[in-house]
Order: sequence, then C-alpha cells, then structure tokens
Amino acid sequence: MIKDVIYTISSNLQLNSSVFEMRLDGDTAPLNKSGQFIDIALSGKYLRRPISVCDYDENGLTIIYKVVGEGTKQMSNMQKGEKLSALCALGNGFDDSVTAKKIALVGGGVGLPPLYGLAKRLKSQGKNITVLAGFNTAADMYYINEFSSLAPTRVATADGSAGTKGFVTALMDEGEFDYFYACGPEPMLNALLKTGLDGQLSYEARMACGFGVCMGCSCKTKLGAKRICKDGPVMTAKEMR
Ligand SMILES: Cc1cc2nc3c(=O)[nH]c(=O)nc-3n(C[C@H](O)[C@H](O)[C@H](O)COP(=O)(O)OP(=O)(O)OC[C@H]3O[C@@H](n4cnc5c(N)ncnc54)[C@H](O)[C@@H]3O)c2cc1C
Ligand code: FES
Repeated sequence: MIKDVIYTISSNLQLNSSVFEMRLDGDTAPLNKSGQFIDIALSGKYLRRPISVCDYDENGLTIIYKVVGEGTKQMSNMQKGEKLSALCALGNGFDDSVTAKKIALVGGGVGLPPLYGLAKRLKSQGKNITVLAGFNTAADMYYINEFSSLAPTRVATADGSAGTKGFVTALMDEGEFDYFYACGPEPMLNALLKTGLDGQLSYEARMACGFGVCMGCSCKTKLGAKRICKDGPVMTAKEMR
C-alpha cells in the first residue's frame, strides 16, 4: 500500500562534501522490505525525487542522499523540524529469504544506503554477509563504521586513496561468494552480472509517476519489459543477465 506521508525532519547531517543523512519521523507502516524507496515532493518541483530507504523503524526512516542538482540541494538546506511530504513505500525491495552460504553486499557510491537496512536484516537472520563498498576516492567514503559494526566490510577506491585500488568487484575473490545483493552505478551492476554469480540488483531510472502507471521507467529484461519503479527497482541476476 502506498501512502502520502508528511514526515518531520529530525536531523539532516552532512556526511562528506556532498552526501547527507536525513532522519524523517513519521509513518513507516507501508514499508516491508529493505531496498524500497520513497518519492519526495519538493516545493517548486513538478517531479518528485526518488530516494532509497536506508533504514527504518516504527518511528521513522533514514535516507542518505547526494547533492547532484536543484532538488537534492533544496533538501540539504532543510532544517530539523521542517515537514517533508513523500510517497511511501515504493518498489519491490530485496528478497531477503534467499538461503546462501556466503553473501556479498555490493554497493557503489550512493548505492550503499539500501544495503545498510538489508545488512541488519540478514544479520538478524544469522546469515554470513560481507560488505563490499566502492567509492571514487577516500573523501567520498561514508557509513563505513556503521557497516563495519554489522559485518566484515571491505573498501575499494578508484584512485587507491583508501582500501584496494580499483572497482568494487576487485574485492571479490573467485568462488568466495555464492550470492550477492547490489546497488550502485550501472557499470558496476553489469560487471557483477558478468561474474555469473546469482543475486539481486537494484536499478535506477528517471521516474515520472513513481508507482507504475506512466511506463516512463521501463527496462528490458529476459521476462519482457518491466517498470523499475513498481516491478523493481530490484531485479534478479537471472532476469537481467
Ligand atoms: C529507485 C531510486 C532510488 C534512489 N536512491 C537514491 C539514494 O538513496 N541516494 C541518492 O543520493 N540518490 C538516489 N537516487 C537518485 C536520486 O533520485 C537523484 O539523484 C535525484 O532525484 C536528483 O534530483 P535533483 O533535483 O537533485 O537533480 P536534477 O538533476 O536537477 O533532477 C532533475 C530530474 O531528474 C531526476 N533524476 C536526476 N538524477 C536521477 C537519478 N540518478 N535517478 C533517477 N532520477 C534522477 C530527478 O528526480 C528530477 O526529476 C535514487 C534513484 C532511484 C530511481
Ligand atoms: S515512473 Fe511511471 S511507471 Fe515507473
């Protein structure tokens, strides 16, 4: 069920030069999976801004967003106590019922946030997880302590300024994992598909309605055209490979 919820901002913290963590107090009853997203209405903006839910509890939810344009800039200037209207909850989210021996959670840049709530869920189920986090450079890193408190966490940076030099896929030894959950830039998702490993991938697309009626976000899969906002954003490796 999708609801239009008025949230109250309880914090809006800057995590690095362009990434912010916003805590929103309000109704989270429509959320039932990690990897779902909210669609935020901003004043003066016709289209809503889709942002993944990083984590949630019965009192509210956390989002992490990068300032890339006017909408996210406006969000970064919002203060504690201000109201924010968002559609909650959109998208299918990750299926966390999969049984696998060793699971990689692979996130690149601002693809990491939905993997945080997922890591908590998988850990509470006693699953063996390892977080693989990729950034362009050390200054872009955030939430590494938070992930490390949940699971072994490895970092890769494209310029080698922290962790392993190279792409996040360089952190996976051959045969080490038997399943993955991933969210990040499309080249990273494509590289994961090429490994042949079974898993789930969260995709991004420009969206209009955000809940499945305009077909503006459709993508090709082996099972035919799917809407990233409603049938996704999480797709299986089998349907995308
Ligand atoms: C399912 C989903 C989950 C997302 N989760 C996150 C997240 O957790 N953290 C985060 O930082 N970003 C996330 N994004 C990307 C985020 O939606 C865009 O960065 C944001 O909408 C940019 O808005 P803007 O006004 O600042 O930028 P502008 O470029 O000014 O936006 C212009 C228009 O393009 C759209 N747009 C721009 N970039 C994107 C994009 N990458 N994907 C989809 N629409 C875009 C905007 O929504 C807006 O309608 C997610 C996108 C999707 C589809
Ligand atoms: S944005 Fe309208 S169907 Fe996905």
